[in-house]
Amino acid sequence: MNKNGLLYEGKAKKIYQTDDQDVLWIEYKDDATAFNGEKKDKIAGKSRLNNLITSQIFQSLKEAGINNHFIENLSDTEQLVRKVTIIPLEVVVRNVAAGSLSKRLGLEEGIQLNTTIVELYYKDDALGDPLINEDHIRLLDIASPEQLEIMKTNALKVNEFLLELFKEINVRLVDFKLEFGVTESGEVLLADEISPDTCRLWDMETNQKFDKDLFRRNLGSLTEGYEEILTRLGGTSNV
Ligand code: C5P
Repeated sequence: MNKNGLLYEGKAKKIYQTDDQDVLWIEYKDDATAFNGEKKDKIAGKSRLNNLITSQIFQSLKEAGINNHFIENLSDTEQLVRKVTIIPLEVVVRNVAAGSLSKRLGLEEGIQLNTTIVELYYKDDALGDPLINEDHIRLLDIASPEQLEIMKTNALKVNEFLLELFKEINVRLVDFKLEFGVTESGEVLLADEISPDTCRLWDMETNQKFDKDLFRRNLGSLTEGYEEILTRLGGTSNV
């Protein structure tokens, strides 16, 4: 498989075409951004950590029967995935109050939610990725009701799987964000990444943070936190 032309460059990844029109080559970048690009930095080693953690989680999800775009890991910072057209929605699943939920509803961070919350955000930088509901999605024709149902059902399945996976390594899965895409044949597939960039992950005993809040809130070394997750997942650490 050859890496061909650059198709798209996002905040955290570059996406290239390959010889196979149904396969894309993803290269993770060391760039860190937060607050819709207002806070920016380059963090050496972040690309490797997010690529290796995402590859491992997507492979495990596949083995558990939760279909996704992942094909194979190519190197420390690269992976092959199936080509999909991303549906411009961020599906956020929450188990514990934190971040924007705490702010919006006045809930103390760290409170266990008595029901799992699924939220939908419209992926639009110019609008600041607003929280939207299913009426808005219908109005803007962002996804069909059937596609939305698949996304929500799969998001809850991913949550069940990840809660267990992280519990085994003594990590509390506070919340996370998923993205889905549509294949050429119309199948809705889990895509993008699942990493400490897109999840809140706290130590089960101490509530120490191992996720992007380290960067967002200047709480300490991002790479040390992410490396801790990779190591606990059984991946290789070079520290
Ligand atoms: O900021 P908020 O509390 O809404 O984030 C909820 C979860 O979604 C967090 O785990 C955060 O890392 C993730 N997220 C993301 N990308 C965004 C917004 C949120 O990965 N653009």
